[in-house]
Amino acid sequence: MSILVTGGAGYIGSHTVVELLNMGKDVVIVDNLSNSSILVLDRIKEITGKRPEFYQIDISNKELLRNVFEKEKIEAVIHFAGFKAVDESVKYPVMYYENNIMSTLSLIEIMTEYDVKKIVFSSSATVYGINNPSPLVEEMPTSATNPYGYTKVMLEQILKDVYVADSDWSIALLRYFNPIGAHESGMIGENPLGIPNNLMPFIAQVAIGKRQELSVFGNDYDTVDGTGVRDYIHVVDLAFGHIKALEKISESKKVHIYNLGSGVGTSVLELIKTFEVENKIQIPYKIVPRRAGDVAICFANADKALNELNWKTTKTIADMCRDTWNWQSKNPNGYRQS
Ligand code: NAD
Ligand code: UFG
Repeated sequence: MSILVTGGAGYIGSHTVVELLNMGKDVVIVDNLSNSSILVLDRIKEITGKRPEFYQIDISNKELLRNVFEKEKIEAVIHFAGFKAVDESVKYPVMYYENNIMSTLSLIEIMTEYDVKKIVFSSSATVYGINNPSPLVEEMPTSATNPYGYTKVMLEQILKDVYVADSDWSIALLRYFNPIGAHESGMIGENPLGIPNNLMPFIAQVAIGKRQELSVFGNDYDTVDGTGVRDYIHVVDLAFGHIKALEKISESKKVHIYNLGSGVGTSVLELIKTFEVENKIQIPYKIVPRRAGDVAICFANADKALNELNWKTTKTIADMCRDTWNWQSKNPNGYRQS
């Protein structure tokens, strides 16, 4: 029996596939490579010695997805596939609703057809909206301020409704905080196309000389040094969170909701400083006005995942900075050769 990983060629998916293979699981990846590279498969093989089954398909294509379920024996699904850029979702809302919601509906339909009723879903801390104070706990009300966020709020609701209608389903909704870092081998990592929106990929591109300087969005927040505070989590810790969630949904049929974060906030300036010290590289930056839609502080209460999954983060901000730089310096152009 295999674990089907949608979006398994992407950033978080590829790191999770590595850990699944390392623990002896059979893995089938489905990915349309809209935001990833086929070369990831070679890298996964180099790290683990194993090549997962791979289907280059769009999961909203039910015929092609059905074909995968027909050929493979799937026991559970980890569902990463989707678009994830907040700004882009504001510009192209229909594209986001279509890709994130419709494809998940097809997936649920085909899973139901094949009686596969275990799913781990990539949700996000974005579902806490802008009104809940940190530390954020799973019981807080959810809301959104942009189409990307709404897709996560809606998909959480859809999956809860699926369970209400059929309690044979077992579902984990994992609310990630800010995933950064890379596999310690430097073979796989985050590979943003164009100008990065997120802080760590931008810092990495300044470090490699692709961008001249970082813009720090506001230093007048009510935080330790005035810059925004986030809960950064190493992508390998995050991958292990999925393994634990998979075990959980196998032992108890329910909708399980977990924050996957460290429980600790780090400011923009603290992250820059740690990157500089750890990698001995200067990161030139300038302070610019706040970015619309940003909250001052966002970090998790991570107790539920510790108590129920026996999972917590193990890696430090220094580890995240070191592993990001190891990946970026070994792969200045990501998976592209030049
Ligand atoms: P990613 O873009 O690297 O990976 C997503 C993968 O899904 C890509 O390989 C892409 O090609 C594939 N894909 C997209 N639409 C598809 C479709 N219709 N059919 C088949 N494949 C498709 O993103 P990531 O950072 O690895 O994020 C994975 C998931 O985690 C996403 O759902 C994202 O919203 C969620 N998430 C990410 C973050 C983050 O900061 N990276 C934070 C919270 C939640
Ligand atoms: N920041 C900068 N300069 C940059 C980029 C970011 O100063 O060039 C700051 C932001 O203002 C924020 C912090 O760095 O204070 C982190 O910003 P990111 O864009 O890296 O992350 P966000 O917390 O804003 O967003 C992330 C995901 C979203 C998700 C959100 C909530 O990218 O998809 O977390 O979970 F919705």
